[in-house]
Amino acid sequence: MHRFLLALLLFGCGEDTSKTDPTPDTGPAVDAEIPAVELDAAAPDAALPDAAPVDAAVPELAPLPGLIGAALAEDTNPDPHVLEVNLHASASANTLAPGRTIEGMSYNGQSPGPTLQARVGDEIVVHFTNDLNEPTTIHWHGLRIPDDMDGSPRIQTPVAPGETFTYHFIAPEAGTFWYHPHVRANAQVELGLYGMLIVHEATPPVFTAERTFALDDILLNGDRVAAFLASFPEQMHGRNGNVLLTNGQIEPADGTAAEGDVERWRLVNTANARTMSLSIEGASFRVIGTDGGLITEPYETDRILLPVGQRYDLEVRYDHPGAVRLISHVLVLEGENVVERPFTVQTVNVRATGLAPQPVALPAIPRPARGRVEETAIITLDGVQTADGVRWRLNGMDGGAEHMHMEPLFTFQQGEYVRIILDNKAGPEHPFHLHGQFFEILPDGRPETEQPGLKDTVLVPGLSRVTIFAHMDNPGRWMAHCHILEHAALGMMAEIVVEPR
Ligand code: C2O
Ligand code: CU
Repeated sequence: MHRFLLALLLFGCGEDTSKTDPTPDTGPAVDAEIPAVELDAAAPDAALPDAAPVDAAVPELAPLPGLIGAALAEDTNPDPHVLEVNLHASASANTLAPGRTIEGMSYNGQSPGPTLQARVGDEIVVHFTNDLNEPTTIHWHGLRIPDDMDGSPRIQTPVAPGETFTYHFIAPEAGTFWYHPHVRANAQVELGLYGMLIVHEATPPVFTAERTFALDDILLNGDRVAAFLASFPEQMHGRNGNVLLTNGQIEPADGTAAEGDVERWRLVNTANARTMSLSIEGASFRVIGTDGGLITEPYETDRILLPVGQRYDLEVRYDHPGAVRLISHVLVLEGENVVERPFTVQTVNVRATGLAPQPVALPAIPRPARGRVEETAIITLDGVQTADGVRWRLNGMDGGAEHMHMEPLFTFQQGEYVRIILDNKAGPEHPFHLHGQFFEILPDGRPETEQPGLKDTVLVPGLSRVTIFAHMDNPGRWMAHCHILEHAALGMMAEIVVEPR
């Protein structure tokens, strides 16, 4: 089916803290067995007496898996435990398809931006330069790092045009993550500022190949990105695009594979608003990971419900030759009717070998720790119509345009287990995202809640409640917001404080 949607989908389916030192004492627990690595230990003639012993103590590292998807960021640091990259954001002409270029934004001239890959426990150093003509930050979505490295414009003074900032943290957990701005995000992300960040397990499971998929949609008006927040439906439901993008491309090149291959696919929904419903045709697959990394019990399913912000890792088994398709089932308006239509967002051509896929050994993942719930918090999500248009709120509070509202919604103590009831009082759905912590979703039979594993984003359907259990183990001031970027821009943005214990 043609990829340009004929009609828009209006209803969702379904202080200056610019220090550069990492702060390990306040950061999340890092595997004690991973030796701390001096930033300059890898300099060839660094006369640091313990540089060599540190290296010698490190067991031989298996090479990182290759990733098929957006081009990788260049690692400028030879130390295998340090990923050091340069990123610059700038206005750019983004090519969505041959002959189809839009005026957008990008990191290092590519959209999606370069994929960062590291190993759990590695240091990540990102020298960021803002070449845009507006302020920005980078948020590392899903990484439980110290709050002053989190890209929150309430903590980090946004990086002004022409300025630089160094993000420096340790990758606390393995998983599929992504990065994006947290200033005027509804526009900057839509225009092309987003990328993936892959943190590999200490001993990564060995697949034939790993593919990364940043799944997006954008709203074009001719060959221009349509005006922001200009329509009532966009204010109500978020901005649903009319063009689907896979790794920034309308027609991504077909992949190739062989019968018998077993691959790891890492998916992230980078759209502003659209919840995606996904299936795979021509291969068998199961879910092996989500926002917080690999899950305890992989499971099979026909459909993946992927709200904006969330991730899924899939194990895809090519058990017969032919075309394998990743399909996005999209609600479209045809005449008077809203109907679901399949759009192929990626094809992989599998050649015959007569071989059968062999099982891939996955590391044993303990069940998430479930402590006694010490507190129950209720967060109501609602909207109000004002003279200036629609405003969105959390517990009746409007986060304001620049999210500078400073009253925290809640203050918890580090280490507390908190039950949070997300009570959506309005029709539109809200993918609620909490920075800095993971949570589990209490399953209640709906696809929005049958999502095992550790999450950082949960879809709260219209006029309904969803309960999550969060382990507040990362102290700091954390943004809590709707990941429909228009809702966040229109007020659905708050702060939760976790006090160090
Ligand atoms: Cu991906 Cu606060 O967001
Ligand atoms: Cu919302």
